[in-house]
Amino acid sequence: MRIAVLGATGHIGTWLVPRLVQRGHDVIGVSRGIRAPYRNSPEWADVRHVVLDRDALERAGSFGTTIAALASDAVIDLISFTVDSTAQVVDALRDRVGQFLHCGTLWVHGVPFSRPYDETAPRKPFGEYGVRKAAIEKFLLEEATRGFPATVLHPGHITGPGWDPINPAGHLDPRVFDRLASGDVVTLPNDGSATLQHVHSDDVAEAFALAVDHAPDSIGESFHIAACEPVSMRSYAEQAAQWFGRNANLAFLPWEEFRTTLTQREAALTYDHMAHSPHASIDKARRVLSFEPRFTAVEAVKDAVTGSR
Ligand SMILES: NC(=O)c1ccc[n+]([C@@H]2O[C@H](COP(=O)([O-])OP(=O)(O)OC[C@H]3O[C@@H](n4cnc5c(N)ncnc54)[C@H](OP(=O)(O)O)[C@@H]3O)[C@@H](O)[C@H]2O)c1
Repeated sequence: MRIAVLGATGHIGTWLVPRLVQRGHDVIGVSRGIRAPYRNSPEWADVRHVVLDRDALERAGSFGTTIAALASDAVIDLISFTVDSTAQVVDALRDRVGQFLHCGTLWVHGVPFSRPYDETAPRKPFGEYGVRKAAIEKFLLEEATRGFPATVLHPGHITGPGWDPINPAGHLDPRVFDRLASGDVVTLPNDGSATLQHVHSDDVAEAFALAVDHAPDSIGESFHIAACEPVSMRSYAEQAAQWFGRNANLAFLPWEEFRTTLTQREAALTYDHMAHSPHASIDKARRVLSFEPRFTAVEAVKDAVTGSR
C-alpha cells in the first residue's frame, strides 16, 4: 500500500517508517525537513519525502487537499492536536483513503475513574492537550460511524534512544539517573506510589503497523498502546538504580514541599504525570491487533538511558 506518514521523522516516525518499508509498503514521509530521524535505517532510502509546513498550509486552507493529492491508501497522522486540524484532513480524504490513523494519548482519560481502565472507560480529560486529544478521538470515532475509516491509537509516555525519558520523579531532568547511578539521594513526591506507563517508540511503531495490517478490525476503534503494566515512581527508581549496581537511596517529600525543589516546568510535568497516574489495559490491542510490547515500562527507559535492556 501507499502510506503517508504525517510527522515522519520524530519519536514514532523514526521507528515506524522503516517498519512500514520492511512490510513492503510504499511510504511517503511528510515533515518540514527540519529534523532528521533519531536513528538511521537503510529503509529511509526507499521513502519519498514531502516537505511542507502543516501549520502554514492549514492557515491557507490547503493542507487537507495537499495530503489528499498524495493519493495514499492510508494516512497516519502523528501530528494533529486539534479537531480543526484533523477535520481539515478528514474532509479532504473522505472516500479517498482506505484507512486514517490518528495518534492520540492515554491523557484522553484524565484522572482515571478506576485502575486498570480500558478503552470504554468514561473520558474526563484535563489540561488543554488531553482535552483536545479526547475531542479528536470523539470526532474521529463519530466520523467512523458515518463510514470514515478512522483508527485511533493512544500511546503512553513514548521512550526510546535519542531523547530524555520521563524519569522516576516524573520530569525530564536526566541528572536524576546520574544520581541513581552514583548512589546520591533521589527525592520522590509523596510516597512514590504515583504510576507511569512508558512505551518504547518501536512498540508504538509496531502497533501502528499492526493497525494497518488489521485494518478491517481496527477501523472505528481506539486502542491503548503502552507497556503491559505501569510502574510506580518508587519501583522505577529502585529498578533504575539496579542498572548501575546500586540500591536506590530514596527520600520522600509531600507534594507541596517537593514542588519547591523543582523548576516550574519540572513541577508542572511531575504534577501532570502524578495526576494522570496511568494504568491502561492493553488487552484490546493484544486481542484485536496481536500487539505484544517487546519492552516493559522500565526496559523501555533502560534502552533510552543505557542503550540496552
Ligand atoms: N511524546 C510522548 O510521550 C507522547 C505520548 C503519547 C502520545 N504522543 C503523541 O505522539 C504524537 C507526536 O509524535 P512524535 O512524538 O513522534 O512527534 P515528534 O517527535 O514531536 O516529531 C514531530 C514530527 O512532525 C514533524 N513536524 C513538526 N511540525 C510540523 C509541521 N508544522 N509541519 C510538518 N511536519 C511537522 C517533525 O519534523 P520537522 O520538525 O522536520 O517538521 C517530526 O517529523 C502526538 O500526536 C502526541 O500527542 C506523544
